[in-house]
Amino acid sequence: MADRPFIMLGIESSCDETAAAIIGSDKTIYANEIASQMDQHAEYGGVVPEVAARAHLETIDVVIDRALQKAGLVLADIDGFAATAGPGLIGGVAVGTVTAKAIAAARQRPYYAVNHLEGHALSARLTDSIEFPYLLLLVSGGHTQLLAVAGPGRYHRYGTTMDDAAGEAFDKCAKIMGLGYPGGPAIEKAARLGNAGTIALARPLKGADHCHFSFSGLKTALANKLKQLGGVDQAPLHDLAASLQAAIADCLADRSQKAMHQFATDYLANSPDTPPVLVIAGGVAANRYIFEQLADTAAKNGFRLSVPPAALCTDNAAMIAWAALERHHQDGADSDDFDFAPRPRWPLDSHASPPPGRGVRA
Ligand code: KG4
Ligand code: ZN
Repeated sequence: MADRPFIMLGIESSCDETAAAIIGSDKTIYANEIASQMDQHAEYGGVVPEVAARAHLETIDVVIDRALQKAGLVLADIDGFAATAGPGLIGGVAVGTVTAKAIAAARQRPYYAVNHLEGHALSARLTDSIEFPYLLLLVSGGHTQLLAVAGPGRYHRYGTTMDDAAGEAFDKCAKIMGLGYPGGPAIEKAARLGNAGTIALARPLKGADHCHFSFSGLKTALANKLKQLGGVDQAPLHDLAASLQAAIADCLADRSQKAMHQFATDYLANSPDTPPVLVIAGGVAANRYIFEQLADTAAKNGFRLSVPPAALCTDNAAMIAWAALERHHQDGADSDDFDFAPRPRWPLDSHASPPPGRGVRA
């Protein structure tokens, strides 16, 4: 028993994907299944919590079955059960955690309550060999944060958004331009046919003496440009998409550069043998243009850039199973009690000082 890998089943249901994955402590990905609800939310232009919770409830058993079949395993082969316990839409989180707890209780196996953000934060270590500490740019639909990752449960936040997250800016701007939901992939596709140089958009907080972000002004600026250029029917949407993508990428690169300096001061006093690593995680990390801009900035600052494969960037259950396995490695069987309550808000660094301004995101 001790020599064989620990096999973890992970469940993710905090937003609009119902996902189940089976991962070994030796990093074997036995299965990584996902059922997207995107079609059900697309007509509303965003995620509707009640629709999401119902869809999770209807799909979760099917997705878990699919994962077991893909892996060629049965429930008796699973050593531990993990689920996203927050932050996220509480209805979906409740479906995932209750399911994981029920199976864990029935099978008398440990249960792991996982922070969704920690799933994103540690996902790069599932597919790349990265040592702690590293610098993380977490960019998703709900979060935009720069953090030093010192180990599981050990985070130091350098910056966060004062208003919208980067993915939220993509989604809201795509909606304004009539490009559909989710906005990030739609804008990336449109931007490939456009020229970023023809429409000037501001870079909020570029050059600021801290690592925080602000994206809501960009949305207003884009809406104004669109109006000036004749609205959705007449404006050059491809150019607008390219300008928006370039502006977001530029802001992410500028703030990341600031954080790289800070990280070097905090963690790299004795020059390490291998270059420090900047990891990008979260749905926006799937964007090729942003990847290229950040790779360039990282290289200029002596950092190696690591990005998980696209399927591990957007929401998935492999990262949830892996985050639980990271903890299992660290402390032995450090599982959670069944009375662990879901947390709609769950910051990675609970001691982080808030950014200047209002509307602070965890
Ligand atoms: O991590 P994720 O799947 O879910 C959250 O936890 O939020 O991230 C979803 C976000 C959405 O805002 C979506 O528009 C954005 O990631 N996204 C992208 C791309 N693919 C997904 N943004 C820019 N370019 C993409 N290719
Ligand atoms: Zn996410």
